[in-house]
Amino acid sequence: MSEDALFPLELVRTETNDAGPRLVAPGAVHIPGWLTLEQQRWIVARFGEWTQGPVPLRAATLPGGHQMSVRTVCLGWHWQPYRYTREATDVNGRPVLDFPDWMVRLGRKAVDAAYASGVESDQTLSALATTYTPDAALVNYYDDGAAMGMHQDKDERSNAPVVSLSIGDTCLFRFGNTHTRTKPYTDVKLHSGDLFVFGGASRFAYHGIPKVFPETAADGCGLSRGRINITMRVTGLS
Ligand code: SIN
Ligand code: MN
Repeated sequence: MSEDALFPLELVRTETNDAGPRLVAPGAVHIPGWLTLEQQRWIVARFGEWTQGPVPLRAATLPGGHQMSVRTVCLGWHWQPYRYTREATDVNGRPVLDFPDWMVRLGRKAVDAAYASGVESDQTLSALATTYTPDAALVNYYDDGAAMGMHQDKDERSNAPVVSLSIGDTCLFRFGNTHTRTKPYTDVKLHSGDLFVFGGASRFAYHGIPKVFPETAADGCGLSRGRINITMRVTGLS
């Protein structure tokens, strides 16, 4: 199926196999099973292409010297701790791949699904769907032992929502508060095909992945091992 058919140009609300949106915190919405298996398989095939370069998957090294267990390939802008660049100056100096149009459309559809669903009462958030234009995606790959510590996504110069898509093994996603890395937080299991959008009052909430559950991927999602997570962001950079 073509990318236009899988991710339509217009902002239409198509039927999905989702179990309904859930408000996890103000501005933070989880929609289980939002991507169809066909969409998941198609995205996994694109992931295979992205990892061929020009910039390979890499585990970033944090300023303290700790190497992340998650490996990442970026689209649009390259993220390195803690800034965005057009070239992957901490990997091989090559420019990153363009941010694909189909992913802009998918991002808009995601924002619409999350905020026009009625679970979030902030009308300014649902109005964002038509103009939301993500320009960077961090595509993370988690193998069995990978995890991600509590952090804020704050290297962007924009408070536009972050759209997160998960494919493959189930993980524990810890979604916290904007003040501390610690409680209060909500633990959510993200399964293959799930959408999570955090914007508004939750845009700068701490979050992390304490654990991935090996060999839990949905049959037919296209990934036999590990977990892919895509977060789309608006960098506010030019
Ligand atoms: C992230 O916070 O950048 C990734 C979250 C996830 O893997 O679900
Ligand atoms: Mn993050």
